[in-house]
Amino acid sequence: MKGSSFLVASLSILLCAVGAQPATVALKGHRAGPATIFTGCVVNKMAALTFDDGPNIYEAGISDVLTAHGVRGTFFVNGDLYNCIYDKQIVKNLRHSFLAGHQIGSHTWAHLDLTTLNETQIHSEMSRTELALQKILGVTPAFMRPPFGSYNDLVRNVSGTRGQSLVIWNVDTRDWAGLTVAESEAIYQTAIDAKQDTILPLMHETFNTTAFELLPWAIKALKAAGYRFGTVAECVGQRPYQAFNLPRIRDRTWTC
Ligand SMILES: *[C@@H]1O[C@H](CO)[C@@H](O)[C@H](O)[C@H]1NC(C)=O
Ligand SMILES: *[C@@H]1O[C@H](CO)[C@@H](O)[C@H](O)[C@H]1NC(C)=O
Ligand SMILES: *[C@@H]1O[C@H](CO)[C@@H](O)[C@H](O)[C@H]1NC(C)=O
Ligand SMILES: [Zn+2]
Repeated sequence: MKGSSFLVASLSILLCAVGAQPATVALKGHRAGPATIFTGCVVNKMAALTFDDGPNIYEAGISDVLTAHGVRGTFFVNGDLYNCIYDKQIVKNLRHSFLAGHQIGSHTWAHLDLTTLNETQIHSEMSRTELALQKILGVTPAFMRPPFGSYNDLVRNVSGTRGQSLVIWNVDTRDWAGLTVAESEAIYQTAIDAKQDTILPLMHETFNTTAFELLPWAIKALKAAGYRFGTVAECVGQRPYQAFNLPRIRDRTWTC
């Protein structure tokens, strides 16, 4: 897609995203100080489906399953884990998800345990992914999910300095641990049966079964149980991005 048509599409997505917010929830950004940590939604009866560890081969598939069901989800992406975020096909898939209205957040650069790093290293893990998203999508993410859900006061402070909130989860499907689809479904079912106020599940875009079996099942089950779907930003009543700018044209810096 050319830069200009991409911009127009980006801006209409922005307007659409803002317009779709529940009228009663004022959109807020992060205030100075340590990052806020969200472990669930603040909007009752809301479900925010999240997918980590991409951009990966099933991202376009997941994006399309969500879109086909009228659901907007959230991808927490790495800069360089299974793929380099600047790869041509990966860039295409990321833009496809973004333009479909799904939220793109940061999962940092190389999926390191941030609690083992010093301040300079933490900034670097965060800034490299933010820069990539600025170049590829034109946005600066307002949300970061720390790899392994692992954070400490320093991570929180650095994240806060960068204007971000941290997002954990309140349902762990354990797709990452090799559970079968039926076992992950049972985990969802337990949360549904317990009438959990909000559903903020951890899934990974790296598994075929998560993309094409667990996800469609979860959408149907959560819908039937009366949950409303939204992005992480919508489910916590904040804006998804700190800034919108022009996506940039590929140049020699687009390497991992
Ligand atoms: C952080 O760690 C890196 C790598 O070990 C090291 O080179 C750097 O000096 C450290 N920085 C600070 C401020 O401690
Ligand atoms: C985090 O920031 C607070 C001030 O907001 C400060 O009191 C605390 O010492 C900082 N902690 C670390 C580990 O940097
Ligand atoms: C993923 O699963 C779908 C349907 O189950 C199948 O058609 C597809 O070939 C699989 N893709 C890969 C890469 O395994
Ligand atoms: Zn991860």
